[in-house]
Amino acid sequence: MIILGIETSCDETAASVIKIKRGRGYPHFFILSNIVASQIKIHQKYGGVVPELAARHHLKNIIPIIDQAIKKAKIKPKNIDLISVTSHPGLITSLLVGLEAAKTLAYLWQKPLAKVNHLKAHIYVNYLKNKKIKFPALGLIVSGGHTELVLMKDKFSFKKIGQTLDDAAGECFDKIAKMLDIGYPGGPIIEKLAKKGNPSAYNLPRPMINSQDFNFSFSGLKTAMLYKLRDLKKKKKNIKKLIPDLAAGTQQAIIDVLLKKTIKAAKKYKVKTIMLAGGVAANQQLRKQLQEKINYYLPTTHYLTPNTQFCTDNAAMVAIAGYFQTLNKKFRTIQKDKS
Ligand code: KG4
Ligand code: ZN
Repeated sequence: MIILGIETSCDETAASVIKIKRGRGYPHFFILSNIVASQIKIHQKYGGVVPELAARHHLKNIIPIIDQAIKKAKIKPKNIDLISVTSHPGLITSLLVGLEAAKTLAYLWQKPLAKVNHLKAHIYVNYLKNKKIKFPALGLIVSGGHTELVLMKDKFSFKKIGQTLDDAAGECFDKIAKMLDIGYPGGPIIEKLAKKGNPSAYNLPRPMINSQDFNFSFSGLKTAMLYKLRDLKKKKKNIKKLIPDLAAGTQQAIIDVLLKKTIKAAKKYKVKTIMLAGGVAANQQLRKQLQEKINYYLPTTHYLTPNTQFCTDNAAMVAIAGYFQTLNKKFRTIQKDKS
C-alpha cells in the first residue's frame, strides 16, 4: 500500500510518500520520500509563527512540495492508494491549505482521503521503528502547542489522562528563548546553549510536579524567568554570560516535570510501552533522562522515540496515521456512508 501524506498545520509545508508491507502479522513502514519546507526563517524575526504569513507560504509551497515528494518517491499518482492530510488541531488558515489541496487531489485522482489528527500522527510515527508495539501504551506528546499524556489500550484508542493547563512545553522553550533574545524556535537553541551551562545554577520552579493528577503547567516557569532576568538586570549582571546556565536550568525544569508525571502515569496504568512524541521529543536530554528513569523504575517497559527528524512536524507521520485510520472499522463505515 502506498500513502501520500500532507501536513500544513503550523509553519512546515510537508509531503511524504510511504509504503506499507505487512509481515509477521504487523505492518512495516518504508519512507519513499519525506519533504519538509520549513518557514523558520520567515517567522524568526517575529519571534514566533505569524498565522497570516504561514498560510500564504503554505499556499505558495504546497503543490511544488507534493510534486517533489511524488517525484522523489519515483511513483506516479496512479500508484497512490490513499491520501492522508492533517485536519486538526493547528492554525486554521494553515490547515485549510493542506486540506483543500488534499481534497482536490483526491477528487482529481479518484483516491480515498483520510483526515487525521496531528497529535495522533505524532504518536503513530513511532511505528517507523517497525517494532511490535505492546499495549497498554502511554504517549507523552510534547510539541509547540500541546503537552499531553495519552493512554492507549490498543492502536486505535487515545484517552487523554493529562494535559497542560496553560503553556505547552515547546511554547515555554520558545517564550523563554524570546525573553533571553536568543532566537526562534527556542527548543533547539536552548538545548544547544544548555550543553555549556549548569542546570542547578538557578533555583527555577517545577510547577505542579507534585500534584496528584497528570496535568502540567509551564507558565509559572516562564514568569519565574521573567522575574529572574529583571533581578539580574537590576544587579547589572552581564546576562549574555549567564545564558548557558539559564538555558540549562530551563531545560532541566521542564524535563523534571515531564519525567515525574510520565513515570507516575506509566506505573499507575501498568503500561507495557512508553512513546515519546512531538517537537520537544527531539531534545536529547529529555530522551536520555526518560530512558534512564524507565531503566530504573520500569525496567520491563518498552521505550520508543522517533528519530529526531520525525519528532518535529513532517508528513510521514500523517501518512502513517492515515494508514491506521483506514484499518479502523469506524473510519471504513464513515467512508462507505459518504460514497
Ligand atoms: O511538533 P512541532 O514541530 O510543532 C507543533 O506541533 O507544535 O513542535 C515544535 C516545538 C517548538 O516549540 C520547538 O521549540 C520545540 O518543538 N523543539 C524542541 C527541540 N526541537 C524542537 N524543544 C526542545 N528541544 C529540542 N531539540
Ligand atoms: Zn506537531
